[in-house]
Amino acid sequence: MRLTILGATGGIGRLLVPLALDEGHQVTAFARAPEKIRQTDPQLRVLGGDLFQPEAMAAAIRGSDAVLSAFGPTTLRRTHLRRDFGRTIVQAMRLAGVSRFIHVSTAFLFGEGGLVFAVMSKTLFRNVTEDHRESEQEMTQPDLAWTILRPPRLLDGRPTGHPRVVAGHLPKGGFAISRADVAAFMLQEAVAPKYVRQVVGLSN
Ligand SMILES: NC(=O)c1ccc[n+]([C@@H]2O[C@H](COP(=O)([O-])OP(=O)(O)OC[C@H]3O[C@@H](n4cnc5c(N)ncnc54)[C@H](OP(=O)(O)O)[C@@H]3O)[C@@H](O)[C@H]2O)c1
Repeated sequence: MRLTILGATGGIGRLLVPLALDEGHQVTAFARAPEKIRQTDPQLRVLGGDLFQPEAMAAAIRGSDAVLSAFGPTTLRRTHLRRDFGRTIVQAMRLAGVSRFIHVSTAFLFGEGGLVFAVMSKTLFRNVTEDHRESEQEMTQPDLAWTILRPPRLLDGRPTGHPRVVAGHLPKGGFAISRADVAAFMLQEAVAPKYVRQVVGLSN
């Protein structure tokens, strides 16, 4: 497949690029800091550009079968970057005539996970959660084939290879998942779509 990866320089994205190449896919990584991507491969195209600029993003994703996004700012302050990114990706997909995308959001939006999740999503992660909510609202357009993944806490380390996946809910008692498992699931969902226009919870 021809895949475009957004957020390719981040924790999930850095795992996703080699995983996709190993499976034989053609990969375009579109990043604001393309110099961070050291890997070279005949099947890898690295493009630098602005992830809030629809025409630039459209140029990167044109001809792709699917777009995989692990974009996300690190600030805990109030920001609209995720919302604006959501708006941009929708415009870019339409401009490029590509409809399939898979994006990483947050499990906080389920409103599940008990007291700890409820408190965290209303205190330390309140701004992040709101920005994710607005981003999802931008992204979940009826003319596009989106899948929104909502993982809980992301961990480094080895994949389990068998994360629990539940459409519309956080898996019961799920508190964490490895970035490696998220990356593998994103790729699996691109190759064999099972959750089109669905919000998906996944955890260890
Ligand atoms: N951390 C958690 O426990 C957790 C839990 C649930 C969900 N999530 C969500 O999962 C997402 C992906 O996780 P991760 O660990 O892979 O994140 P990460 O390592 O922080 O990577 C985020 C990616 O987004 C890019 N990015 C951030 N701000 C940007 C901007 N203004 N313009 C262009 N690119 C920008 C980064 O590019 P640069 O390399 O150029 O900075 C990087 O490629 C998170 O961002 C978060 O929204 C996280």
